[in-house]
Amino acid sequence: MKQVKIGVIGFGTVGTGAISILLNQKELVKKRTGIELILKKVADKDLERPRQISLPRELLTADAWEIIKDPEIDIVVELIGGIHPAKEFIIEALRNGKHVVTANKALLAEEGNDIFKEAKERGLQVGFEASVAGGIPIIKVMREALVANRMLAIYGIINGTTNFILTKMTNEGIDFPEALREAQELGYAEADPTLDIEGIDSAHKLTILASLAYGIPLSFKSVYCEGITKIASQDIEFAKEFGYKIKLLAITKLLDSEIELRVHPTMVPEDYLISKVDGVFNAIYVEGDSVGATLYYGRGAGSMPTGSAVVADIVDIAKGVKTLSFDFSEKYTIKPIEEIESMYYFRFMALDRPGVLSKISGVFGEHNISIASVIQKGRSKAGAVPLVILTHKAKEKDVLQAVQKIDQLPVVAAKSVFIRVEGQEE
Ligand code: HSE
Repeated sequence: MKQVKIGVIGFGTVGTGAISILLNQKELVKKRTGIELILKKVADKDLERPRQISLPRELLTADAWEIIKDPEIDIVVELIGGIHPAKEFIIEALRNGKHVVTANKALLAEEGNDIFKEAKERGLQVGFEASVAGGIPIIKVMREALVANRMLAIYGIINGTTNFILTKMTNEGIDFPEALREAQELGYAEADPTLDIEGIDSAHKLTILASLAYGIPLSFKSVYCEGITKIASQDIEFAKEFGYKIKLLAITKLLDSEIELRVHPTMVPEDYLISKVDGVFNAIYVEGDSVGATLYYGRGAGSMPTGSAVVADIVDIAKGVKTLSFDFSEKYTIKPIEEIESMYYFRFMALDRPGVLSKISGVFGEHNISIASVIQKGRSKAGAVPLVILTHKAKEKDVLQAVQKIDQLPVVAAKSVFIRVEGQEE
C-alpha cells in the first residue's frame, strides 16, 4: 500500500477542518484510492489555543521549518494565510522536493508566478483547490472537466461575507454598517473586514480563475476592484423596482482578444440563477465555447468545506495526478476599466424642478449614453429627490465623463451613484 506523509503548517480554522478530514476519512480514502494518508506533523505558532480537535503532543510543533526540512514528508500543506512567511515556507518546501497544497489566494494572486515557476522547474505539484470558493471544486472544473473549452466568461459570487451583507440589506432593508456589524457578530466578517468589503478577496480569487481560464500569468494588479461599502439601501430598493438584485460579482471575459478583469457591485436580473445565491454561499457561472453555460454552487468558506478541498488536492497529488501543473504563458491585453462597455444604473440627487431631467439627459446625449428607463421618487419643493436612470450599453469612459459633468450642475445636490448592470439589453 502506498503511503504518503503530510505536514500541515497552520492549525487554524481551515487547518482544523483539513486535519479532522484527513484523520476521520483515512479509511474511506484508503478504500477508494489504495493510498494511506499519514499525518506526520502539524505546526502552529500557538499550540495552547483551544481547538475543536486535539492532537497527540508528538504530532505538534511550533516550528514550521521542522516540517519543511523533514526528509520523510512528501506533501507540505500551507494554511497560515498572508504573503509572508507563507511564501518563504512554500518556496523552501519546493526546494526541498516537496509537493505543496495551499488555500492561500492572496499569496497565489500576488506572488503565485514565482511559486508556480519554482514548482515547474522542479517537476512538483502545487494544489490550490481551496484557494477559490472553498468547497466548490471550481479549480478542478476549470483544469479537468472543461479543459477542452475555450472559456468565454466567468461571473462569480466568490466572497461569502459580502454576499451575506448584501443579502441582509436586500431582505431586511438595513444599511451597510448594520449588516456589516451582524456579519462580524456571527463571525463571517473579520474585525478588520477590509479585504472582504473592499472586494480585494474576490479580486484575489478572480486573478486565479482568470489565469486558469485564459492561461495568462497571475495579474492581480490588473484587476479593477470596487467593494460594497458605498451601496445604499435605497439603491437596493430601486434595483428591486427594476427587477434586479445587487451582487458583488467577480467578472472575467474574453472579448475581441482582450480580457476583462473586474470586481464590483453589479445589478443582476432577479430571475437569473446567480441572483438567487444568498447568504454566505458562493456561486460561479462559467461559460465555455463547447459546454455553454454552467453554474457551480456551494460553501465558499469554513473549516470543513475548505478542508475538504485541501484533502482532495492531497489525494490527487498522492495519486500522481499530473493535471495540477499549468502553463500561464499566454499573452492577452487586459482591458482597462475605462474601455469596458456595460449597461448602467444611475441615481442622481436632483432638485425637483422643471427642466432638470432634460439637463441630465442632455449630458447623456453628448456622451453617447442612451437612456432605457427613468424613475423619479418623491416630491420636494426645496430639497433634492432621487432621479434614477437605467441606460443601454455605454462605454465606461463616456459614463465617467458624463457623471463628472452632471455632478457639477447646480441642480444636482450630491455626488451621483452608478452601478454596472448585467443581463440582456432590452
Ligand atoms: N473571507 C472569505 C469570504 C472566505 O468571506 O468568502 C475565505 O476566502
